[in-house]
Amino acid sequence: MSQKNWPYPHIVAHRGGGKLAPENTLAAIDIGAKYGHLMIEFDAKLSNDAQIFLLHDDTLDRTSNGWGIAGELSWDKLAKLDAGSWFSRDFNGEPLALLADVAARCRQHQMMANIEIKPTTNSEIETGRAIAQAAAQLWQGQTAPLLSSFSYEALEAAMQVEPELPRGLLLHSWDKQWQEKTTALDCVSIHLNHKVLSAARVAELKAAGLRILAYTVNNPERARALLKWGVDAICTDRIDIIGPDFT
Ligand code: G3P
Ligand code: MG
Repeated sequence: MSQKNWPYPHIVAHRGGGKLAPENTLAAIDIGAKYGHLMIEFDAKLSNDAQIFLLHDDTLDRTSNGWGIAGELSWDKLAKLDAGSWFSRDFNGEPLALLADVAARCRQHQMMANIEIKPTTNSEIETGRAIAQAAAQLWQGQTAPLLSSFSYEALEAAMQVEPELPRGLLLHSWDKQWQEKTTALDCVSIHLNHKVLSAARVAELKAAGLRILAYTVNNPERARALLKWGVDAICTDRIDIIGPDFT
């Protein structure tokens, strides 16, 4: 695999604002921008009426005042939920965010995006396809958003509809089939749990022509070591101490 275009910075704010704001909301994106971040990561999925919105978990319980499987609800119900007050009262009433509004906010702050496709179980293909199509349209004229997913099927569906959008395969643990999978998906990058990375593995992945994003790195010493080994991007919750100028 040859080296592909990689316009992304070396630090990425996890879920918009890391641990400083309710994850995956517009308020989080504003906090990421306030700390000067040039790129954010966030998790996106489908409502039951095919609207794309941001949420990490399958269920609403942890990060909103709703409950149950989020993907089983229509957007008009999801839009009424409070996704801020679980975090702190300063964010009372912060709603769930639609991908279209997130794209507009990224454009406003001139931030790049890593869209993690986080499908509700059994809607991997539909979600991968819908998010890739929407992303291509919403980010037109800007740096292409980097699509990533733990779901091979979702990335494959994204590739089929929008082959030009860059893709990164997410892995929580070391997968001996990483090369076969990233080649089949024509990935520009591999996004790995930093705990499974070593200097030797970084060298192996780089030799295969892949860019590497390590998540979620909250210790500056660890971030420094990973970057020294050749990791291309660090995804962090500590957006305050691992900032855009981090070295
Ligand atoms: O994309 C990096 C990271 O967000 C993957 O894990 O569970 O935080 O979405 P998770
Ligand atoms: Mg994520």
